[in-house]
Amino acid sequence: MSSLIEQAAQRLEQLRTAGADIPDGVPIAQANKEALNAPSGAQSNSLSRRVEIDLEALSKAGIVSPNAPRSAIADQFRVVKRPLIGNAMGKGASPIINGNLIMVTSSLPGEGKTFTAINLAMSMATELDYTVMLVDADVARPSVMTVLGLPAGAGLLDLVLDESMDLSSMLLKTNVDKLTLLPSGTPHPRATELLASDAMINLLNDMARRYTDRIIIFDSPPLLLATEARVLASHMGQIVMVVQAERTLQSDVVLALSTIDACPVKLMLLNQARTVSKGGYEYGYGHVYGYEYGFEVQQA
Ligand SMILES: Nc1ncnc2c1ncn2[C@@H]1O[C@H](COP(=O)(O)OP(=O)(O)O)[C@@H](O)[C@H]1O
Ligand SMILES: [Mg+2]
Repeated sequence: MSSLIEQAAQRLEQLRTAGADIPDGVPIAQANKEALNAPSGAQSNSLSRRVEIDLEALSKAGIVSPNAPRSAIADQFRVVKRPLIGNAMGKGASPIINGNLIMVTSSLPGEGKTFTAINLAMSMATELDYTVMLVDADVARPSVMTVLGLPAGAGLLDLVLDESMDLSSMLLKTNVDKLTLLPSGTPHPRATELLASDAMINLLNDMARRYTDRIIIFDSPPLLLATEARVLASHMGQIVMVVQAERTLQSDVVLALSTIDACPVKLMLLNQARTVSKGGYEYGYGHVYGYEYGFEVQQA
């Protein structure tokens, strides 16, 4: 058992004894009710596809944005992103293969993968000199575009299904200069299976090769529900594992971490979103943000 897993287990135990309500039974996945909107007319000639993110709405929703550079959430992600950037740019002791490919995953749905992936991408894109590509690879339950207030469109699945398409033609530029998006694409009945296909692996290699100076963040399916996520994980240089501290079972965390054993770098984020009453405030979701993190680098 690695030290990271031990730390996670210990921390969950501490939270449990401190009175946090960690269920003993199987946690019920929080259903994502968002309906998937199939894109009606995917633009084919889309080298200049560009979208406007409503940055004010984003910061009101508690997400890092260039409009609110000093928020609590921004401070937390400033800490979280630093080691990831160091590894992505090969600044560690020994360079990490595909270090610029960062997968954000968790054991189960509803733990905060999308929230984390978007915050991480925004935080990196707004403050640093690196270009960030945010990929919605949770293809069965895509929500990156919805959270950003953008319509769904062609993207990842379209590229996987038609290898003659060019990756760059699917990318969306945004009003955050250094942030580009790759939506999950046209819904497909076997979407998650496609993530483990040869075409997907070719695409990942293409991304890593073509965009070496770019940090690529993948919002991904949960490890315990989609075995394909493990295949994806095996091609990533770094994995951010989100754990919802008050809900995820310790045994699920241990199991999920064991499925990504081969990944050289793992960062675990204990996401402790709590609902609090905010009195007269009318905006936001009334959460207090809290992240704790542990980091493990395995030498190859
Ligand atoms: N730290 C946090 N603070 C506030 N809200 C959060 C936090 N983490 C998750 N959430 C909210 O919890 C819900 C589930 O998170 P989400 O990122 O969609 O989970 P997942 O992508 O793992 O299914 C979303 O409404 C999200 O905005
Ligand atoms: Mg999600």
